[in-house]
Amino acid sequence: MKIIRVKDQIEGGKVGAQVFADTLANGAQVFGLATGSSPISIYDTITASDMDFSDKISVNLDEYKGIAGTHEQSYRYFMNEHFFSKKPFKESFVPDGLNPDGEAEAARYDAILEKNPRDLQILGLGRNGHIGFNEPGTSFESTTHEVDLTESTIEANARFFTNKEEVPKQAYSMGIKSIMEAKQILVVAYGANKADAVKAMIDGPVSEDVPASVLQKHANVIVILDEAAASKL
Ligand code: GLP
Repeated sequence: MKIIRVKDQIEGGKVGAQVFADTLANGAQVFGLATGSSPISIYDTITASDMDFSDKISVNLDEYKGIAGTHEQSYRYFMNEHFFSKKPFKESFVPDGLNPDGEAEAARYDAILEKNPRDLQILGLGRNGHIGFNEPGTSFESTTHEVDLTESTIEANARFFTNKEEVPKQAYSMGIKSIMEAKQILVVAYGANKADAVKAMIDGPVSEDVPASVLQKHANVIVILDEAAASKL
């Protein structure tokens, strides 16, 4: 893993956007995108740049189950707000939170992933080491699946909803195997509340108890951290 320490999220945004620019220059066609606060400064830098994705494809990591893409807290809405409305792709895929049939949605999304192999996948990091919505204990062999969110994730995400009860309890997520299939992976984490997860991801044993630790087995990972997130390394 290549670890890049940055002063703050603004600098992290520039460094991350440069990774996108380099990948684009190398002919990348498919970009795996993520939501959460961590990638926002990268998206802001990209959307303010002259990078062009109009003939590229994006595929997102995950989506809440049970809310529509027009819901303000859906990940489709987030992506429209922070990226697609400013810098459109030729096509942008996000799991369909309104598909009530988990198996059908997983199969549909896996077919999309198979057809569109990712050149780059950006990831945030959950406080418990989750990536996408792959909570601790998820099989490293997992493909797209329906997830029951843990209490810790529901609490962490409650700040975006009026109250905790409104946070969806389930989601659709690319699996760990799907994430590992990307040619290159860019992880972004900021703040002291990520320091334990960062340490476990980089220095801990590779274990399904810490989903992000699987990244130690990937040949091409860049990690962007601020000082607080890197403080336990
Ligand atoms: C959510 C998302 C993850 C994201 C994580 C961290 O649970 N499903 O993909 O990485 O939150 O979010 P943040 O970057 O806001 O800390």
